[in-house]
Amino acid sequence: MPDMLVNLLHLPDEAEQVGAMRNIGVVIRRANTFEASAVRRFIEDNFSTGWADELMPCFSRQPVSLHIAIADGEIIGFAAVEATCRNYFGPTGVLPQQRGRGVGTALLVVALHSMRTSGYAYGIIGGVGPAEFYAKAVGATIIPDSTPGIYANPLRKRS
Ligand SMILES: CC(C)(COP(=O)(O)OP(=O)(O)OC[C@H]1O[C@@H](n2cnc3c(N)ncnc32)[C@H](O)[C@@H]1OP(=O)(O)O)[C@@H](O)C(=O)NCCC(=O)NCCS
Repeated sequence: MPDMLVNLLHLPDEAEQVGAMRNIGVVIRRANTFEASAVRRFIEDNFSTGWADELMPCFSRQPVSLHIAIADGEIIGFAAVEATCRNYFGPTGVLPQQRGRGVGTALLVVALHSMRTSGYAYGIIGGVGPAEFYAKAVGATIIPDSTPGIYANPLRKRS
């Protein structure tokens, strides 16, 4: 699971991504602090407890450093920034039945723009995952010798 580097100075247009999602009935926006439990449940139910734990720091910031995608009043995807380490993007995920409609790309682009606004010129995608998705969506490139990165020596999983 290598890390990837993204040039935040050459990101796809944010408004275009958000607008395209709106056109298919999907709202992309920052999560609110009062939605922390709902987001946590969504991630535990559909992804993992580890990811739910990982993004806890996002809810101790203002603004919250996590974006969600909503359709029909329900969360369908999320993207975290600076959950694991400073300057890191991830984790991120979209419900299986909602994939392939651009939701993951829109969340990624909006989240990376928020990193740029925070003052970073480059961002790191930690421990990918679908490298082709990141390369295609935002021109991310693999960081040499980045395996194992911050996710080395994980605890044995417990239920
Ligand atoms: C990765 C993920 C967030 C992408 O979400 P999505 O809403 O399906 O993404 P998009 O619809 O914006 O896809 C954009 C393009 O990337 C491609 N793509 C999406 N997921 C991909 C994957 N896992 N591997 C390779 N390509 C992928 C799509 O086919 C699409 O290509 P197209 O435009 O030619 O059709 C989603 O597949 C997911 O939740 N995966 C499981 C969790 C995960 O792996 N998270 C990343 C951890 S680093």
